[in-house]
Amino acid sequence: MRSAARPTATLIESQELPAGEVMLEQFTQPPALHGSAINMREVDIENLPVAPDDPLRSYYRPLATGAWSLRVLPVAVCEGYFTGLQVVNGLALLMRRQDVWMSVTPLETESQQIGVDLAHGHVAIFGLGMGWAAAASAMRPEVDKVTVVEMDDEILALHETLGLFERLPDGVGEKIEIVHADALEWKPDSPVDLLVPDIWLDMVSWGRAEEVHDMQDNVGAEAVYFWGQELELARHAVLKGRALDDAGLAETATEFDLPLVGLDTPDYAARTRIATKQWMKGRWLEGTEVPEDLRHPDYDGAQAE
Ligand SMILES: C[S@@+](CC[C@H](N)C(=O)[O-])C[C@H]1O[C@@H](n2cnc3c(N)ncnc32)[C@H](O)[C@@H]1O
Repeated sequence: MRSAARPTATLIESQELPAGEVMLEQFTQPPALHGSAINMREVDIENLPVAPDDPLRSYYRPLATGAWSLRVLPVAVCEGYFTGLQVVNGLALLMRRQDVWMSVTPLETESQQIGVDLAHGHVAIFGLGMGWAAAASAMRPEVDKVTVVEMDDEILALHETLGLFERLPDGVGEKIEIVHADALEWKPDSPVDLLVPDIWLDMVSWGRAEEVHDMQDNVGAEAVYFWGQELELARHAVLKGRALDDAGLAETATEFDLPLVGLDTPDYAARTRIATKQWMKGRWLEGTEVPEDLRHPDYDGAQAE
């Protein structure tokens, strides 16, 4: 989950309780944005699948620097980006005050995995956060160099203390260079094979494709995969009355005028439809006629304006 505001999932915190007792309580308020809390009274937690463990999870520990804090929750219930509700054990998350900016949940990992899987050569990652995408990319043998662009002093200080990259196996952390700069201004001094912008709190924001376009104007990467790409493609495609199929997504990607990648990964269109239905949460572009099969009962029951 990314948050309340960055609506990654509804997070439920488990208290440390005597063995055998299970008590879950709501950790954050549901997103003020769209009130998407999962009603835990209707969820049969005992029968939920357990999310696969993430290899980087154990590298995180509770820490705080300024407004930022890293926390580790014993257990949480989260909804994936392409998958459903599941139990996550030992959930590590990064908060800035009350907002969750990143966490090692299926929502976050599934929504960044395509970028990690396609990482090769020199990767530029915009937004350090927990350093999850940077570490996962550096661990790939196909990757030679990872440049992470981050502008927040306090998150940089938090990573100095955490020392995540130094502890990665086989010295792969040495591939990672952190640059203190604004992602909207930074220009590389060597060619970039893949640009992965992820500087946002929320999964959907207005003008995201244009913002990525501005970044790419500075970077000139061979390929781009940005966070929330599927939802951004979906809202533009659906506004134009296109189906969320391979052809509709490809046509929309062409209009973004970005060298977007990921569209030819397995089941991309089907997965985009799932993510759209679960996570769009009514944030369609003005004038969109939301097709029946993409409507979320809580947000699109009444047709979007
Ligand atoms: C959601 S986190 C990134 C999570 C990261 N992908 C990971 O895997 O852990 C977003 C990060 O972007 C940073 N950020 C926001 N705006 C930025 C900007 N204009 N330039 C550079 N970094 C920025 C935030 O400080 C935060 O560290």
